[in-house]
Amino acid sequence: MIKIAPSILSADFVNLERDIRALGPAGADYVHVDVMDGLFVPNISIGLPVVKAIARISPLPLDVHLMIDRPLRYVERFCEAGADLVTIHVEADTAEHTRQALETIRACGRKAGLSVKPGTPAEAVLPYLELCDLILVMTVEPGFGGQKFMADMMPKLRTIRGWIDERRPGCELEVDGGVNTETAMVCRENGANVLVAGSAWFKAPDPAAFAAAVKA
Ligand code: DX5
Ligand code: ZN
Repeated sequence: MIKIAPSILSADFVNLERDIRALGPAGADYVHVDVMDGLFVPNISIGLPVVKAIARISPLPLDVHLMIDRPLRYVERFCEAGADLVTIHVEADTAEHTRQALETIRACGRKAGLSVKPGTPAEAVLPYLELCDLILVMTVEPGFGGQKFMADMMPKLRTIRGWIDERRPGCELEVDGGVNTETAMVCRENGANVLVAGSAWFKAPDPAAFAAAVKA
């Protein structure tokens, strides 16, 4: 089954509750929450208090994408804030701390995700695969919504799909960045089963039609 995770980075923050409540009925599966610290990426978005508030009202599970430096410092607090799935970046800390962060998320009873930026090879996720419930392949440079999809990430996506099928069936494979109705098909063909969509979802005249087209 293909799942959709609308990124609320493109939502109307003044009407965030309204926008979040509209996701489920339109066919979304997760709420994708982008957390940025201005260090790991050149942008600052939202943090713990907002995640906590969203968790209080969201009927859908929260897929929290941490674009922050040394995430081990914060993963436990994001779990406590109500994240169902916490994804960290493999580039954000040492191998030892990355492993510890994934273990901490799992010890909190949440799902652990690991993300790779466009310049990071597929092999970077391999040492951690047994600790992961989700691998996130970035199809733009993280930091901003509305960028162009990088089709040259598809071989990496396909490689990771092969490893998941072999060694970790059940692990989800997510793509994030520039996903629209056309690029969603390309991602599906290359093995993704969770599609993040920010601008395409929130700019769609009919998000339910967008969801149906992407899942069909
Ligand atoms: C980018 C974020 C994305 C972003 C996607 O760093 O991780 O989740 O919101 O936005 P679109 O779908 O507009 O590329
Ligand atoms: Zn994201």
